[in-house]
Amino acid sequence: EPVCENQPFPTSLPVSWPLNMALAEETKAVVAKFDYTDENLNAGVKEFIRQMGEGLEQDGTSLSQIPTYVTAVPNGTEKGMYMAVDLGGTNFRVCSILLNGDTTFNLTYSKVAIPKELMVAKTAGELFAFLAKQIEEFLKTHHQEHFYKAVRRRQTFSAPEGYRDENALQLGFTFSFPVNQIGINKGNLIRWTKGFDIPDAVGKDVCALLQVEIDKLHLPVKVSALVNDTVGTLMARSYTSPGKTGAILGAIFGTGTNGAYIEKLANVKKPMTGEFDKTTGLMVINTEWGSFDNQLNVLPNTTWDIQLDKNTPNPGIQMFEKRVSGMFLGEIVRLTIVDMLKNDDIHLFKDINSSHNDWKSTTNIAPQSGIFQPWGLDSAIMSVAAADNTPELGTLRQSLESDLHVYSPSLEDAQAFKAIAGAIGRRAARLSAVAVGAIVLQTGKLTDPEWAGEAIDIGVDGSLVEHYPYFRDMMYEGLRAIEGIGEEGAKRIRIGIAKDGSGVGAALIALVAAGMEKNQSVADHLHD
Ligand code: GLC
Repeated sequence: EPVCENQPFPTSLPVSWPLNMALAEETKAVVAKFDYTDENLNAGVKEFIRQMGEGLEQDGTSLSQIPTYVTAVPNGTEKGMYMAVDLGGTNFRVCSILLNGDTTFNLTYSKVAIPKELMVAKTAGELFAFLAKQIEEFLKTHHQEHFYKAVRRRQTFSAPEGYRDENALQLGFTFSFPVNQIGINKGNLIRWTKGFDIPDAVGKDVCALLQVEIDKLHLPVKVSALVNDTVGTLMARSYTSPGKTGAILGAIFGTGTNGAYIEKLANVKKPMTGEFDKTTGLMVINTEWGSFDNQLNVLPNTTWDIQLDKNTPNPGIQMFEKRVSGMFLGEIVRLTIVDMLKNDDIHLFKDINSSHNDWKSTTNIAPQSGIFQPWGLDSAIMSVAAADNTPELGTLRQSLESDLHVYSPSLEDAQAFKAIAGAIGRRAARLSAVAVGAIVLQTGKLTDPEWAGEAIDIGVDGSLVEHYPYFRDMMYEGLRAIEGIGEEGAKRIRIGIAKDGSGVGAALIALVAAGMEKNQSVADHLHD
């Protein structure tokens, strides 16, 4: 089983002297603190289902369970040219998507890293002006006719209302933060997550904020749909691999983590204000599971989890995400390692010749290393650690040297690092199984006779599922251990990557929105 490749601790440690013994012992102890047993997992699932129910009944609970006003998923026949932008992780992406109507699509995109200072800008305007500027650049490079339209308008018109143009490009806005959605292209920001912090934007309609900046540039672009990346992923997965009824869940395991699933309308007990098509009897719900169990009823809570939370702009919030997603895993590893470095009795990354008293200078790590800086350890090195299963750990040692400026890390150093990073990654994957498993159980499909033998399809995207070795395997291992799923149930759960999910999904929802504008019902385009 590939699952076993990610063993929490290497079995054969070359123990040559007492200091290495101490390191081995300490590593084992640290690894054990990240253990997440089958029992923990099942308690987690029960609590997840309970908090899902709570969120469907009222606002303000830890699982927000946000109605998205999307009431059906596509079937692969949708057609047309749309634009999409995606804000929510490390990069801002702009793309145009041609849906071919035969489950395939062509996608052109550009991406740019979001400058750190804009993530914490004084005003929302600064960030959104930057986004509009990127859209303009994209048009200039890939859709010149639209760019020159804007240029001509700037020369001749004074009214900057490009979107009134009936040939304006329809744009789906993937905005991957918790938003109180009040319509297909309207939604007020509830709170920032993942290191963004611009208080000025909270409570405002993010589509309007973007449209204003687009209009200032006279771009012929209309923000016609507001989409969470998880909803986009769900839609995209259904478009590209339409099964009997499409995917039931779209999930992101990347910088952040979250999932959107198809719920029966009858189960949504809290009031919904926007207009929507009720004929399918379904509604896509954005769970915002990053904030599952903020109250810590069941989530594991090591001293390093506690330290990490204190150093975020949103302590006490997104507590599940802070244990699962890429933005945080590297920092948990770093905090754990720093504690070990501070301990003189443990021979980790130590400079044996050093006579200094300051703990940093007793190490063989250069001062500029990310290990010494909060958020300085990129989670990507965890993937290197998990992938390197050679006896010498040569690749990992090289990465420790080049990425983290550790001078000549020993085999023992690398083994300890691998074991600790592996334990933290494994806990994240098993926690992910809690969320996925709970939603599978909530849909009732495993026991529904109409679904007997059918695959239960889940679309996923994000750097963790894409690049962290064995993440999906470890998730499946967790799913098999869940009561009510087991071996048989896990076999029916099909977790597939929905590459570019959020862009294609945003295009699909922009298509629905365009249809609604022409007074067609959603069901003309989409089936349940
Ligand atoms: C964060 C956001 C959520 C998003 C997720 C993945 O959890 O709050 O809206 O879906 O990150 O990007």
